[in-house]
Amino acid sequence: MAERNVSHSHFKVVSRNSLLSFFSLITMLFMMSWLFILRSTRPEDNPNAIDRNALPDSNQFSTMNTESPFGNRAILGNEQDLEPTSHETKKTLPDETNDSGKCSTKPRTSGKKSVLKIFMYDLPSEFHFGLLDWKEEGHGVWPDLRTKLPHYPGGLNLQHSIEYWLTLDLLASEQLPEPSDSRSAIRVHNSSEADVIFVPFFSSLSYNRFSRTDPHEKRSNNKVLQEKVVKFVTAQLEWKRSGGRDHVILAHHPNSMLDARMKLWPATFILSDFGRYPPNIANVEKDVIAPYKHVVECYENDSSTFDSRTTLLYFQGAIYRKDGGHVRQELFYLLKEEKDVHFSFGSAQKGGVKDASAGMRSSKFCLNIAGDTPSSNRLFDAIASHCVPVIISDEIELPYEDAIDYTDFCIFVRTRDALKKRFLIDFVRSVKKDEWTRMWNRLKQVQKFYEFQFPSKEADAVQMIWQAVARKAPLMRLKTNKSRRFFRSVYGTNMGNVRVKPSLPTPKNFW
Ligand SMILES: *[C@@H]1O[C@H](CO)[C@@H](O)[C@H](O)[C@H]1NC(C)=O
Ligand SMILES: *[C@@H]1O[C@H](CO)[C@@H](O)[C@H](O)[C@H]1NC(C)=O
Ligand SMILES: *[C@@H]1O[C@H](CO)[C@@H](O)[C@H](O)[C@H]1NC(C)=O
Ligand SMILES: *[C@@H]1O[C@H](CO)[C@@H](O)[C@H](O)[C@H]1NC(C)=O
Repeated sequence: MAERNVSHSHFKVVSRNSLLSFFSLITMLFMMSWLFILRSTRPEDNPNAIDRNALPDSNQFSTMNTESPFGNRAILGNEQDLEPTSHETKKTLPDETNDSGKCSTKPRTSGKKSVLKIFMYDLPSEFHFGLLDWKEEGHGVWPDLRTKLPHYPGGLNLQHSIEYWLTLDLLASEQLPEPSDSRSAIRVHNSSEADVIFVPFFSSLSYNRFSRTDPHEKRSNNKVLQEKVVKFVTAQLEWKRSGGRDHVILAHHPNSMLDARMKLWPATFILSDFGRYPPNIANVEKDVIAPYKHVVECYENDSSTFDSRTTLLYFQGAIYRKDGGHVRQELFYLLKEEKDVHFSFGSAQKGGVKDASAGMRSSKFCLNIAGDTPSSNRLFDAIASHCVPVIISDEIELPYEDAIDYTDFCIFVRTRDALKKRFLIDFVRSVKKDEWTRMWNRLKQVQKFYEFQFPSKEADAVQMIWQAVARKAPLMRLKTNKSRRFFRSVYGTNMGNVRVKPSLPTPKNFW
C-alpha cells in the first residue's frame, strides 16, 4: 500500500517535471520562431523593429461588424487605431467633425484662430532650394519670394512636392505682407516661442534626383545629404532640448530618409504612408499623413451626373511583383468580363495623364488597390476628378482622418472581401444614383483639401497639413516635457549651457 503510494507520487513528480520541461521547450521554440520572424521580415531595419505584418491581425475587430451591406464601407484595416472602426462609432468620435459642417476646416475654437508657430532651421540651401538648382544670391539661404519663385520640376517629382509648398508657406509668412490670421502657420525666429521645430530638408526631391550612385562614388548624394542633415539637426540646441520630440521632418516619398529615419525617429514625420516603416519608427499617433499632389488637373465646372459617367468602375495602374501584385491580378480576372468596367495595366503616367484624366472623369467609381505601398497618388487623382474612390488597401492611412470622415465620399472594401467572386462588382452596383450623387457632391467640397498652391489658401492642402501638425503639437509638448524630467538640472532654463548629452531612450521604451 505504502509502496504503491510512493511509486504513484514518484510517477507524479516525474510527469510534472517532464511536463515542465516540455512546456519550457515549447516556449523557447515559440520565442525563437518569433524572433526569427521579426528578424527575417525587415533585415535592413533596426533589429528591434517590429514588423506590422507580424502583429496579430486586428482586422478581427472589424469582422464582427458586417451585418449591414454597407458595413464594410466604413472599415479601414487600421492596426494603429484600436477604436472599433465601424461607421457608427466613427461618427460619434469627440472631434471637431460636425454633421452639418462635416470637415471642420475652421479651427476648433470659434473666434480667434490659433496659428501654429514654427521655428525653421536655416539649413544651407543644398538641403532645399539648392536641390532645385536655385543659387544663393548673397541674401542668405532663402529665396526672396517677392522677386522670383524657385521653379519646381514637373512630372512625377511633383507628387511628393509637399516639402516645397510647406517651406514656401513658412517663408511667405515673413516675407509677404498678409494678415497672419489667414494663415495656419507662421515662422518665428525664437525657438523658445515656437510650437514645433521644422527641418526644411527636401528629402523626396533628394531621393528622386540623387539616389543613384555614380560609378566613381561610394555613396549617393542622397545618402550624403541625409547623413549631413542628421549631423546638423542633432547638434542643434533645439534638438538637444527635446530629444527631437518637437521636430517636424519631411519624408513623403516612401523611400526618402531611409537612413536618417533611424536616427531622427523621435520627431514627427510627414509621410505618405507607413508602408516601409517599422511601427516604432513611424506610426499614426506620432506622425502626420499628407496627401500626394495629384497629377491630373482638377475637374472645374464639373456638371457630370451619375448617368453621364458611363464607365462604372475605372482602374489604370501598374502590376507589382510584390504583395499588391496578386490582388491586382486577381481583381483583373474577376472584373474583366464586366462591360462597363475599365481595368488596364500599364503606367498612366507615360504620356497617359490626359487619358487617365478623361477616364476618371467619365467614371462613377475609381479603384484604388494597394501597390507596393499602401498609398498612391491615384486616390488623389480620383478625388480631383470627382470619381468616387473605391479603396482596397487594408493598410492605407489617409490624410487628416481625424478631421474628415472619408466614408462620406469613399468606399472601403477589405482585400479578402474584394477577392470573393462577384463581391466587388455587386457591391459597387448596389450604390444607387442618389447615394452616389451625395458622395460626388461631397467630393467637390473636399477637393480643396488636397490642393497644393502658393500662396496657400484657407483649407487647402498646405493649411490642412499645418493644422494636422497643430493637432499633434500638444502630444509633442507632453513628450518633450516628460523627457526633461531627469535632465532639469542639466538644461535648466539656459539652453546655452548644455554640457551633458543624456542618453536617448531606445525606440522600444520611448512611449
Ligand atoms: C453643428 O453645427 C451646427 C451649426 O453650425 C449646430 O447647430 C449643431 O448643434 C452642431 N452639432 C454638433 C454636434 O456640434
Ligand atoms: C525667446 O523667447 C523667450 C521666451 O519667451 C524669452 O525669454 C527670450 O528672451 C527670447 N529670446 C530672444 C533672443 O529674444
Ligand atoms: C468654369 O466656369 C467659370 C465661370 O463660369 C469660368 O470662368 C472658367 O473658365 C471655367 N473653367 C473651365 C476650366 O472651364
Ligand atoms: C510643457 O511645459 C510647458 C512649460 O515649459 C507648459 O507651458 C506646457 O503646458 C507643458 N505642456 C504639456 C503638454 O504638459
